[in-house]
Amino acid sequence: MTPGVVLVGFMGSGKSTVGRLLADMLGVGFVELDSEIERTVGMSVGEIFSANGEEAFRRMEREAIDVATAIPGRVIATGGGAFVDPANMERLRDYGVCVHLAVSPETVLVRLKGDVTRPLLSVDGKEARVRDLLLARSSAYEQADLSVSTDGRTPESVAGELLLRLSKMRREG
Ligand code: S3P
Repeated sequence: MTPGVVLVGFMGSGKSTVGRLLADMLGVGFVELDSEIERTVGMSVGEIFSANGEEAFRRMEREAIDVATAIPGRVIATGGGAFVDPANMERLRDYGVCVHLAVSPETVLVRLKGDVTRPLLSVDGKEARVRDLLLARSSAYEQADLSVSTDGRTPESVAGELLLRLSKMRREG
């Protein structure tokens, strides 16, 4: 099966933007899990969280991963919590190279200033929430095959580095 590429990492790490660029560079399809869920359900992620709760969203996310991984060789951008679930992680690691787009809490706060689309960050004490969640998820993100820092970098630069590192990995088998 043609190996795919899976982008994991925290909200605001640039998974969707970098993923789209990388898919174009590789000449393969691109799928963004959150958009697939929104399209399937006909509701935004924020609406799903407020109407049905996080557990329901996580079930939809697992289903979206099953559907997305049925088509080999694409670039998949996950939502920030997807890789934290062990069954999802296993499925995504089977699908292809998992790449962690690393980001500091400071960068997340700058990139997502004024953002209203992330229900998990729509809280008082957003900074503490970002730090706590990042810390809680770091051991999951560390299970990725590659990690690329995104702080202070453009999506083009991150995608370019990834392209080089992936082709090196593929050459070296
Ligand atoms: C989430 C991240 C979001 C989205 C949902 C939950 C998370 O995706 O899946 O709001 O648990 O970190 P992005 O990482 O694309 O923002």
